[in-house]
Amino acid sequence: MAIKTVLRMGDPFLLKTAQPVTQFGTSELLALIEDMQDTMDYMQGAGIAAPQIGVSSRVVIFGMKDQDNNKNERYPDAESVPYTVLINPMLTVLDDQMEDDWEGCLSVPGLRGIVPRYSALQYTGFDQFGNAINRTVDGFHARVVQHESDHLDGVLYPMRIRDLTNFGFTDILFPNQDIQNN
Ligand code: NI
Repeated sequence: MAIKTVLRMGDPFLLKTAQPVTQFGTSELLALIEDMQDTMDYMQGAGIAAPQIGVSSRVVIFGMKDQDNNKNERYPDAESVPYTVLINPMLTVLDDQMEDDWEGCLSVPGLRGIVPRYSALQYTGFDQFGNAINRTVDGFHARVVQHESDHLDGVLYPMRIRDLTNFGFTDILFPNQDIQNN
């Protein structure tokens, strides 16, 4: 379909709560998901949420479509996350243990920060055809679901950083590494 412009932090649209999807399998919904996929691929994101391309719908996509041939240079760990279209997600934290790791965001280009996220959770929702999704995940998979679901509630990862000394420009934070290795 089309590569869309990704809204950047500071745009008030990113702070809004997105609307639930009420009809599945519609041409409008399928076109939205194609646009999100094209945009995520072009920008080498590990995930994207509909509000990031200016659409107020509770739709996120994340993971890698072809885990052998389509390595993500921004997020090598994303290879372990199956490509998922997740609509109207509901997250249930399984225990209150959290872990810190670096995150970036297509709406916050050039920056990385250490963000605490719940280590393990169950998530439910639907795919674009209305089929139920119910998974129990941990690690990077759990992290990316929390990051993308936050976008649907108007939360960007810098708002979750506890220690802002762990927030900065990727090339300054990691001067001796390839950018993709953080
Ligand atoms: Ni993001």
